[in-house]
Amino acid sequence: MAEIAPGAVPSPNIWNSPQVYEIENRAVDPDGALESAMRRLRPWSGATVLDLGCGTGFHLPMFAREAARVVGVEPHAGLAAAARRRVHDLANVTVRVGAAQALPLPDSSVDVVHVRWAYFFGPGCEPGLAELDRVIRRGGAAFVIDNDATRSTFGGWFRQGLPSYDPAAVERFWTRRGFQREPLMIKWAFRSREDLAAVLRIEFPEELAARFLGEHAGLEVDYAVNLWWRHY
Ligand SMILES: C[S@@+](CC[C@H](N)C(=O)[O-])C[C@H]1O[C@@H](n2cnc3c(N)ncnc32)[C@H](O)[C@@H]1O
Repeated sequence: MAEIAPGAVPSPNIWNSPQVYEIENRAVDPDGALESAMRRLRPWSGATVLDLGCGTGFHLPMFAREAARVVGVEPHAGLAAAARRRVHDLANVTVRVGAAQALPLPDSSVDVVHVRWAYFFGPGCEPGLAELDRVIRRGGAAFVIDNDATRSTFGGWFRQGLPSYDPAAVERFWTRRGFQREPLMIKWAFRSREDLAAVLRIEFPEELAARFLGEHAGLEVDYAVNLWWRHY
């Protein structure tokens, strides 16, 4: 098994099936609603961007187009290696193995942090937030992208997959820590039913994945997300 930094939250979807997760990433938010919202709240032109829990680095090239410097941090060494391969020709991007709770970065060295479906799931992520306080420069911002379990087709599936999830507790957690919620409606848009089926199988137990596929026609899935964000 590949080396994994201490504190990593098991992420079987991308750890076990990085190629299928790539299909999922390509299907997410084809209209760029997340990118537009982040850009409006805190643009990153000329900035130093940290993509925390960057996985195979899918989002690094997008930030690298405008940022002065981009750092991907990822606890799974095999995925970090894949991220390095993805950005080998981008001189302003580096990838480090590490976890949110012990960032391999100096104090006050980052302007914008992007964390997408990684580690920051609400209660329990206080050590990572302390690290954000340490590394983000004054004037910077953090963006945390996670599911909105209260609405949309995907939100309903997510609730069925994780009945113990408490959206109100998650909202209280972020609000108390000075984060604001930007609710967004995005979608998954797949090229084939086979791609949708493969992604459902890495996100849900087999039985649920089969039922969701049977109940849902077409190639698109409406998907509500919360963009939690704050200035520093
Ligand atoms: C669902 S994947 C998302 C990957 C990437 N953000 C993307 O959108 O393609 C979650 C990622 O979070 C990483 N992760 C897990 N625990 C972490 C931690 N403690 N600190 C930082 N990243 C973590 C996993 O290794 C995995 O790559």
